[in-house]
Amino acid sequence: MEDITVSAPGKVILHGEHAVVYGKVAIAASLNLRTYLLLRRSADNNISLDLPNITIKRSWTTDRIKSQVSLPLCDPNKPVGVSEELLTLLKDVAGVHQNESDTKQLAVITFLYLYCALAAHNGTVPAIDLKVVSIQPVSAGLGSSASYSVCLAASLLQLSGIISTPSGDGQWSEEERVLINSWAFFGEKILHGNPSGIDNSVSTFGGAIKFKSGKITPLRRVPKLHILLVNTGIPRSTKVLVARCRARYEKHPDIIEPVLNSIEAISHRCEEVLAKMADSPSNDQYEILEDLIDINQCHLGALQVNHPALEEIVRTAAKYNLHAKLTGAGGGGCAFILIKPDIPLKTVTDIKSEFATMKFQCWETSVGSPGVTAHCGNDDELNRLFS
Ligand code: MEV
Repeated sequence: MEDITVSAPGKVILHGEHAVVYGKVAIAASLNLRTYLLLRRSADNNISLDLPNITIKRSWTTDRIKSQVSLPLCDPNKPVGVSEELLTLLKDVAGVHQNESDTKQLAVITFLYLYCALAAHNGTVPAIDLKVVSIQPVSAGLGSSASYSVCLAASLLQLSGIISTPSGDGQWSEEERVLINSWAFFGEKILHGNPSGIDNSVSTFGGAIKFKSGKITPLRRVPKLHILLVNTGIPRSTKVLVARCRARYEKHPDIIEPVLNSIEAISHRCEEVLAKMADSPSNDQYEILEDLIDINQCHLGALQVNHPALEEIVRTAAKYNLHAKLTGAGGGGCAFILIKPDIPLKTVTDIKSEFATMKFQCWETSVGSPGVTAHCGNDDELNRLFS
């Protein structure tokens, strides 16, 4: 069997993070910061997992999986989440204490679940070496865990022949992507508890999407938006921040519900303006986008997911007449700054050096790269990444 190499993008949520967990609309787009996965049949009888970004290297014998897990688990064409009973068993296989739940351990359990459900779907247990390398910062609000789950689901479904091996542009059919996305969502659930599904959806489908209660609508008319991503370097847990926001909502539902409704109105306005800008972007439209960024940043503060370092980014951007908001779960992680086309190059260079003195890493990028992709043939860059 040929090696399987896939990649999936990270994401930036333009508007609607947290509100989306309550069924409100969010607007998100993929980023050209990707996670790459290499799956190789193994010559020995082991299943090995190598995640260098989070210093995880684990392996299990195929006999151990066969003897401990009752296979097959389910029909791979009917995605289903892990049961409590199976989770307990997989924690045991992974050697994780039952009450431990840090990201590294959850990443191992996510792999074991998707491996057993997809690679071992007919009861046979293939020996494989699987390595995942991400060029996205991890735990920074840019969807690295979702792109991990998407890469796992796509490669393991392809290994089992449940989805095809794409040729040419490396894109799977719409139906196949729906299947990848559903399995990736159940991976995300292991990692994040109760995610909305927006992160895995952007990572699977790419481009820009509108997301509401699991419904994904691709935004076909979007201008080429230029942004500066700034990473506070403060790691945080999406699960903890979603729970913090929930606690505030439950304490003051009559006050927080209108905030969530206002965030939804911002997402709608953003969608409208982006569609108008696709034809002929004007300065007025960019100014509306900047207003939306400022208002939403305040709302996210009201939801208690801001952080002093994120505020520092917002203040620094304001000095240059630029507008910033946190993106993703908040509490640290990343903010984005909208770069209008008329912003002088010097302004961007100056603000980047100011962030560098603050030890904040920056990426200047545009949004809307392709979703999950299979890489065929011999690619020097990928070879270097996995060497
Ligand atoms: C995380 O990228 C976005 C949140 O809205 C959580 C979610 O939607 O699952 C904070």
